[in-house]
Amino acid sequence: MSKSQKLFNESKKVIPSGVNSPVRYFEPYPFFAKKSNGAYIWDEDNQRYIDFCNGYGALLLGHRRKEVLSAVSKQLTQGTMFCTPTQSEIELSKLIVSNFPSIQKVRLVNTGGEATMTAIRLARGFTKKKKIIKFEGCYHGAHDSVLVKAGSGSAHNGISVSDGGLDEVSKNTLVVQYNNSEELERIISKNKDIAGVIVEPILANMGLILPEKNFLSEIRKITKDNDVPLIFDEVVTGFRISPGGAQQHFRIKPDITTLAKALGSGFAVAAVGGKKEIMDLLSPGGKVYQASTYAGNPTSVSAAIASIKTINKIKNKLYSKLEKYNIMLTHAIDDIATDLKIPHQINFTSSMFQIFFTDKPVVDYISSMNADAKKFKKMFSILLKNGVFIAPSQFEVVFLSDAHTKTDLENTINAYDVALKSVKN
Ligand SMILES: Cc1ncc(COP(=O)(O)O)c(C=O)c1O
Repeated sequence: MSKSQKLFNESKKVIPSGVNSPVRYFEPYPFFAKKSNGAYIWDEDNQRYIDFCNGYGALLLGHRRKEVLSAVSKQLTQGTMFCTPTQSEIELSKLIVSNFPSIQKVRLVNTGGEATMTAIRLARGFTKKKKIIKFEGCYHGAHDSVLVKAGSGSAHNGISVSDGGLDEVSKNTLVVQYNNSEELERIISKNKDIAGVIVEPILANMGLILPEKNFLSEIRKITKDNDVPLIFDEVVTGFRISPGGAQQHFRIKPDITTLAKALGSGFAVAAVGGKKEIMDLLSPGGKVYQASTYAGNPTSVSAAIASIKTINKIKNKLYSKLEKYNIMLTHAIDDIATDLKIPHQINFTSSMFQIFFTDKPVVDYISSMNADAKKFKKMFSILLKNGVFIAPSQFEVVFLSDAHTKTDLENTINAYDVALKSVKN
């Protein structure tokens, strides 16, 4: 029996389902990580994997990035928690404000879910309205307002509305099909109680689904014309698509933005930012309450400052390299699947991609749900056996990092070759 298997059996006795987040479980048992570096994770059985899960997108710069580690090590000698303001919080906030022109003020939190929860409360406080609109398949964290027709682990586990979630809350969440701005317009025009619209500008929680041309500019126009705040959930796309996120790439200015993942390069830090008049509603100055003991803790803040500074410094090389590598990888995988006559789609952009086993384009929740997830599961397990770790669900995304080398790509293509052959059989 492998050490991971033994540990999983032990884990199940004290941790529900043996994991601390549902997406981490896969059959027959997840591998238990021992250490990581650059592009790799080693498990407790000393097996090495090329990591394309990459902390679900957080590790844009790779594992244990030296600039981040040295900033954090320095901070550890100064203190890890003060719960009184620090100069470094100002430095980080200024960096975020300068990278994201739509953000005039920003509050630091710990997780993406906390950021979207605060963004929604701010939108409600600002408009004094109740309902929010989200898009089918977008995942914004595990809280009641947004756990409705959500992607990621909730789609993977077939949970459209969670047990224990309150109907009174979820009935105030209206759901619109992704890439359907006409439906959004119809719902907003019929409903005068809309507090905000929240969207992943690139849908990275149903596999990868790209916004169709004009979708984002149309929803920006509709929300502006109707005085409805637009929230861009850039938890995945922030810093990953460009130093100023998807909003810089698509040239759209939302009213509120949420950031997490790549902001902290593996440390728990997130942010919610936006227009001054909205952000100033936060307590204690305003009446929208938000608080957290660990918010803005100096350890995570030092990691985030180092991450943004590193990204800003290397941006000219970073994004073009990631895109080039992504194109190499996806084209090679596409060729293999085509030669094998496996019906498939590959959606990709920047440093993210996903393959779907279907002959129809994947453009929304339904088309992603209709792809053959069993084939995906089989491919995942063969990739893993061949030393390549991608997120274990059709409804996640393959993430490249700055640490991947050409040799890693070649080895990954070989692993996909084996995995796709087994999918065919
Ligand atoms: C787009 C998006 N928003 C919010 C979240 C929630 O972030 P966290 O898991 O840090 O709470 C996620 C997590 O994957 C996400 O992908």
